[in-house]
Amino acid sequence: MIVGKEFEYMHQALRHISGDGPFTRKCEGLLEHILGVGRVLLTTSCTHSLELAALLLGIQPGDEVIIPSFTFVSTANAFVLRGARPVFVDIRSDTLNMDEAQLERLLTPHTKAIVPVHYAGVGCEMDPILEIARRHDTAVVEDNAHGLFGKYKGRYLGTFGCLAAQSFHESKNLTCGEGGALLINDPDHVERAEIIREKGTNRSRFFRGEVDRYTWVDFGSSYVSSDLLAGFLYAQLEARERIQTVRRRIWEYYYLHLQEWAQSHNVRLPTVPTHCEQSYHMFYLLMPSLEERTTLIKHLQTRGVDSVFHYMPLHLSRMGRLFGGKEGDCPVTETLSDVLVRLPFHNGLSNADQAFVVKAIKEFNAKPSSR
Ligand SMILES: Cc1ncc(COP(=O)(O)O)c(C=O)c1O
Repeated sequence: MIVGKEFEYMHQALRHISGDGPFTRKCEGLLEHILGVGRVLLTTSCTHSLELAALLLGIQPGDEVIIPSFTFVSTANAFVLRGARPVFVDIRSDTLNMDEAQLERLLTPHTKAIVPVHYAGVGCEMDPILEIARRHDTAVVEDNAHGLFGKYKGRYLGTFGCLAAQSFHESKNLTCGEGGALLINDPDHVERAEIIREKGTNRSRFFRGEVDRYTWVDFGSSYVSSDLLAGFLYAQLEARERIQTVRRRIWEYYYLHLQEWAQSHNVRLPTVPTHCEQSYHMFYLLMPSLEERTTLIKHLQTRGVDSVFHYMPLHLSRMGRLFGGKEGDCPVTETLSDVLVRLPFHNGLSNADQAFVVKAIKEFNAKPSSR
């Protein structure tokens, strides 16, 4: 949704439509300033930021990377592309985040990275995760696709791992349609990250006037996005407080108006621990059973309300099974992914829209059942 000066900035960006123009720098600088990150690189997507992270960490065949089974495919694919084996960890039943208590059991001498996904923008338990990673000399890469501006114990998500990936896909709080960013917290990664993102060349140094020509210096790919999109994104970043206020209002409206109904119908609402400030990315219900989820979605459809579910457990997908995934590996994921429903949640949702959704939900007769 257009929130401010998107068109004006895109118009200005027409003077330099390729990558790394003025708006890319403005977006990167603003994110560095707000989050307190040493270097931010805008990229074409969160998926590409994760791929860049895998390249920077030198992930190769034989390596293992621990990721939650309950996540988007890109969290796994970025590392699988480099030949790594994804090792799936189950989630906590409260926040639906990686269960840190399972990590020790899954770590091996081949583990090269742990990838916490801050589901729904609620922080994973970063203190124990970082402590375990340090003890096992393993990198932490945060998949922060959902969590921009969320905090864990007062610190921004995306600032804990040596690297973190953001998404600016249309479905995210702030967007430019398709886009992402790599947050680089370990300064040792900055120079190579710039090179890999720029097709394996030192073109970034050339643009800064540090070398008089650029050349092929390493392997790389093309993860630089157009400044047109950066113009769009910069307008969204400028409007970030307004966007976040709207999203907070949407989240709190659902919570307030569904709390009683949920309690009496054995439905669970999201859990946000007191030490986490969430990013207000989504609102979901955990229904008592798969059957009731299916009928709720159908019931809402008949009233014109689109509700969706995700994620199918990765360890039980066709690819996941090729890596040895089987039923029972991640029991919490298997149970909860069957019962989760996401409610409509976007920046243009009005109180009246939400009242309609809530009314439609309350007209649904969920049967209490034991779970
Ligand atoms: C947890 C997670 N990681 C990564 C991605 C990929 O983001 P992008 O579409 O920017 O590549 C998504 C997309 O929704 C996601 O939910």
